[in-house]
Amino acid sequence: NSTDEELIEMIISAKKQLGNDLFIPGHHYQKEEVIQFADARGDSLQLAQLSANTSAKYIVFCGVHFMAETADILSDDNQSVYLPDLRAGCSMADMADIQQTEYAWNELMQIFGDTILPMTYVNSTAAIKSFVGKHGGTTVTSSNAKNVMKWAFKQKQRLLFLPDQHLGRNTAFELGISLEEMAVWDPILEKLHFDGDFEDVKVILWKGHCSVHENFTVYNVEQVREQYPDMNIIVHPECRREVVALSDYSGSTKYIIDQIENAPSGSKWAIGTEMNLVKRLIKENPDQEIISLNPHMCPCLTMNRIDLPHLAWSLDSIIQGQPINQITVDEDIAYNAKLALNRMLNL
Ligand code: 13P
Ligand code: SF4
Repeated sequence: NSTDEELIEMIISAKKQLGNDLFIPGHHYQKEEVIQFADARGDSLQLAQLSANTSAKYIVFCGVHFMAETADILSDDNQSVYLPDLRAGCSMADMADIQQTEYAWNELMQIFGDTILPMTYVNSTAAIKSFVGKHGGTTVTSSNAKNVMKWAFKQKQRLLFLPDQHLGRNTAFELGISLEEMAVWDPILEKLHFDGDFEDVKVILWKGHCSVHENFTVYNVEQVREQYPDMNIIVHPECRREVVALSDYSGSTKYIIDQIENAPSGSKWAIGTEMNLVKRLIKENPDQEIISLNPHMCPCLTMNRIDLPHLAWSLDSIIQGQPINQITVDEDIAYNAKLALNRMLNL
């Protein structure tokens, strides 16, 4: 029942006591009340790189579960990773489980033989990363997707892209692959959707999506174009293909921030990404006119699980010598998952 002031005091004092033993990475979608205490902020790629490079003993991850897993995989044995609220998952990552993936792989092998390389968006469980690593594939983030996909096509003729169909489709399209060359694997119906000759398939998209970014629609784009004809529309590539196609720019959270921070004063932006980041950009760039592409604003409810009380509770548990919510990835899984992550990080 502590007040916000007391919680803030607890966090400041814990950070002081733990000093360099503590590292708090924070994703751009975190709430203001949390991100103010992050030692570093970043997009998924930057956070993975930071996790691999920090030597802090305690990593308290302000983000979602798959990010904390990645940090655990990339950190050393003497480091431990904590997630202030274990309910901070990711609905997209949950759309591909390992049984579904193994089933799909066997089916696809029967159709395409040994011509497919699996790759997974970092927004996936450690088990999926491990599966991908074991089969020679790599992870990918929204900021390096194009380069990683180019590399992947040098390895095999076809790709299986997990679990976000939109990032997969948008990236492949940018590389010149037509929509007619993309098939979709539906893990619920256990069925491959493709009209045409299987020989023509270049990318197999897993039918997963981000429930936050699917809220940005063609209707939203049309409304903005009508009301503010001179506004730039910038969206995250987790948005549907049609929305990305109608927008002016698309890229990762870091890309969106860079575009806005480097734009001349007086620029106008409608942004298609998570609400906390949009709100922060509005606050930090008062010289620009910024709105959310969807006027209802779109929060990521699981990112929002990390709040002041959970962060204070997590840090206090470390101070008390009984840390809670440690994230540990099984060694067998971590081994192959690390292969997939390192293939990406070394590119
Ligand atoms: P990036 O930070 O890589 O753009 O990822 C966005 C996201 O949805 C994280 O869950
Ligand atoms: Fe997952 Fe989407 Fe939330 Fe990112 S914004 S954590 S992809 S549900």
